[in-house]
Amino acid sequence: MNYQELIDGAVDAARTHLGHGKVADYIPALACADPNAIGMALATVDGEVFQAGDADQAFSIQSISKLFTLALVLAEGGDALWRRVGREPSGNPFNSLVQLETEHGIPRNPFINAGAIVVTDRLLGLTGDAAESVRQFLRAESGNPELATNAAIAASEAEHGHRNAALAHFITSHGNLDNDVDTVLRQYYEHCAIEADCRDLALAGRFLARHGIRADGRRLLARSEAKQINAVMLTCGTYDAAGEFAYRVGLPGKSGVGGGVLAIIPGRGAVCAWSPGLDPAGNSVAAVAALDAFTTASGLSVF
Ligand code: DON
Repeated sequence: MNYQELIDGAVDAARTHLGHGKVADYIPALACADPNAIGMALATVDGEVFQAGDADQAFSIQSISKLFTLALVLAEGGDALWRRVGREPSGNPFNSLVQLETEHGIPRNPFINAGAIVVTDRLLGLTGDAAESVRQFLRAESGNPELATNAAIAASEAEHGHRNAALAHFITSHGNLDNDVDTVLRQYYEHCAIEADCRDLALAGRFLARHGIRADGRRLLARSEAKQINAVMLTCGTYDAAGEFAYRVGLPGKSGVGGGVLAIIPGRGAVCAWSPGLDPAGNSVAAVAALDAFTTASGLSVF
């Protein structure tokens, strides 16, 4: 399979979608991203990397970080997490408050903000520093020691994070956070505001394509746990657009409001596409289009 040709073709096809989305501005520091940027990278299970467009331009990984917090919690703490967070699609926006009340402070899944806040709380309890654990993991898997949090973006999120604060306080009122709200939110913003490029994220996602095996050959997750994370990505990773994403792309995927989408091709590799313009569900229009073009042309899919 000619991966380079496929990635080049996917980025070219997706360029026609540039300008169709809206750059996230509810976090003011994200609003200055270039809406015409687009990049894509594929890392194979053997560590070969193919890339196109702006694949080495760093962006804010945002909710893609939730994938790594979940993996680290399952690796360190096992199944106990699932008593505190569900694994069903929410059918609601990623920052919605409505289900938490009827569901007694147990978030629907680990990828909506409410669920990710609980996962961050658990990772903080397990490691003492959730954001640093994510940074170290990403640096190790990508081989890029420079990966870091953009402090200005984390501060901008905190300053405008009223919905997340409401979620965290509500969860606390149900006894589902172990640490205090401010500490958990600070850690959550710190891992969301990590900057990485498509190449870094494709390399960092490979452990899910390798059924739980890290870049250095050590096992992070049992094979069945890697399967479980991929399943939750497929059903919940792109929020209330997960059905449409599964229909078009046919791979487990996790998006972020920085415009990145990381998708896993089990047994083959990981592919990350990025472009800042978002659809109303908070997923990048051109990145999803690039992944759609890639899987359509290659036939690579879990289906
Ligand atoms: O908490 C937030 O709203 C952001 N830090 C992350 C949201 C996000 O990336 C949603 N993904 N598409």
